[in-house]
Amino acid sequence: MFSYIFMKILENRPRSYDRMMDRASRGRILSVKQTIAAELVDANHVLDIGCGTGELAAMLAVQGSKVEGFDVNAEMVEVARQRILKKNLANAVSIHQMGVAGMDGFPDSDYDAVVSTLAFSELSDDERHFALKHCRRILKPYGLILIADEVVPQKKLKKILHVTIRIPMLLAAYLVSRTASHPIADLAGEISSAGFSIQKEIRSHGDSFAMVVGRLEMPDTT
Ligand SMILES: C[S@@+](CC[C@H](N)C(=O)[O-])C[C@H]1O[C@@H](n2cnc3c(N)ncnc32)[C@H](O)[C@@H]1O
Repeated sequence: MFSYIFMKILENRPRSYDRMMDRASRGRILSVKQTIAAELVDANHVLDIGCGTGELAAMLAVQGSKVEGFDVNAEMVEVARQRILKKNLANAVSIHQMGVAGMDGFPDSDYDAVVSTLAFSELSDDERHFALKHCRRILKPYGLILIADEVVPQKKLKKILHVTIRIPMLLAAYLVSRTASHPIADLAGEISSAGFSIQKEIRSHGDSFAMVVGRLEMPDTT
């Protein structure tokens, strides 16, 4: 959990974000991104929501995907663009500075997969709902959604422990960064309600982190 709180502080320091996150999470966040990338070796076109410094977008591009990423934070976007240039991936990756509210500008049925790591917990309920609705619209039939983020533990005791530890740390992080994340109460449920069939949900970090994979079974006819 310390990683998530620390992450809020690091977001104000995009240039050291990846290095410090890797240290703070003892490599676990990087490993989550590697797991996501491994699920998408065959994906031609991928969207990364809240792409931050572009670490996952670059991984996906290296294995052959065309990737678009977007992030609301201009400094994160700048770091992501520099990474893409440095790795000679400019032909494969485009990074946009925008919030999820801009997702209605993406074309219908155009992506094989949508990914997002640690960004959904920063969105409001309405933003998550909006983002998931557009994920469904922009994915091709049978497209995949892979979201890894902080969640509320399912077990009662872990839930109580989570809240007890989290509140003072969250307050401290807010005082430093002026931002807050909100662990998602039912990530798989929200993805399912948006029209995806849940393929897997992997819980880790004392039940407070989840990677959820959903598949769009039917074309969106709404
Ligand atoms: C903790 S960082 C994670 C970055 C990256 N996905 C990663 O895992 O390294 C969360 C990111 O979500 C972005 N974000 C927060 N709210 C957003 C919104 N409404 N639209 C787009 N990006 C947003 C932040 O700017 C930040 O870069």
